[in-house]
Amino acid sequence: MQAMKKVVFPVAGMGTRFLPATKANPKEMLPVVDKPLIQYAAEEAVAAGAEVLVFITGRQKRSIPDHFDTAYELEMELEAKGKHEMLRIVREVLPKGVDCVYLRQPQALGLGHAVRCARPVIGDEPFGVILADDLVQTAGAPVLSQMLEVHREHEASVLGVERVPEDETHRYGVVSSETVSERLSRVNGIIEKPKPAEAPSNLAVIGRYILTPRIFDHLAEIGKGAGGEIQLTDAIARQLAEETFLAWEFEGRRFDCGDKLGYLEATVEYALHHPELREAFSAYLRELDTRPRD
Ligand code: UTP
Repeated sequence: MQAMKKVVFPVAGMGTRFLPATKANPKEMLPVVDKPLIQYAAEEAVAAGAEVLVFITGRQKRSIPDHFDTAYELEMELEAKGKHEMLRIVREVLPKGVDCVYLRQPQALGLGHAVRCARPVIGDEPFGVILADDLVQTAGAPVLSQMLEVHREHEASVLGVERVPEDETHRYGVVSSETVSERLSRVNGIIEKPKPAEAPSNLAVIGRYILTPRIFDHLAEIGKGAGGEIQLTDAIARQLAEETFLAWEFEGRRFDCGDKLGYLEATVEYALHHPELREAFSAYLRELDTRPRD
């Protein structure tokens, strides 16, 4: 099997849960402490060996390319002011040797449709998909690297999954599967946004996928699914009949940053791990805890 060199970032969603913040800016540009969500995602892809980052952008398309482009004026100014650490941070947003490709999803018709837009640049190789609003904090290897190991060993497509509360299955793609080993199972069915009574399990797909290009044939054939959107889950369900899909229960803690509460939790947790903020922020939280409530 060929190496995974390309990772797709669908960033063309409407982000309605975050309006008005997402009116003129994609939600993937929301910062968690000091980095936008999309940069955490790009770093995860590069750590897994990605050399080409493929962004599927939507109507508010400018800020993501701007973020990954060289910012000559800013760099000159930081240099002139002797702000070398800031200069390093700005220059390292996109590591050397990594290319970005920007494709437009003309209409937000769903995640499956967004992934389908990547077909012209993927070619005949397996590729990754990261939904940047699912941010995962790990102690060891990032999620996509964990999944890549599974993909290399088993030469199969891999879905990142986690167990969710049973009354929340309607928010996710949910799999039925047979256990292979402690964190690994073989998928035998998948359904998008099932009601708790219809869910085959509580094993939900979160925003990490390693797919083979065959998925594009299925994406081209499916119609609208749950919520009237073209769903990646529906294409996977068809491909299951012909190829193996594995589900990997990743190690790490996921924050749903497409949701206000999840985003706030991520901000608190990342601040508590941030070398500059850790102490002062913990002290603030302790003080907050003792403050009388009205
Ligand atoms: P969500 O299901 O979170 O939808 O998309 P959304 O529109 O972004 O946000 P809400 O629900 O309105 O608040 C999951 C991922 O798929 C991308 C989004 O950018 C996000 O990363 N997406 C979704 C697209 O790129 N295009 C689409 O048509 C739909």
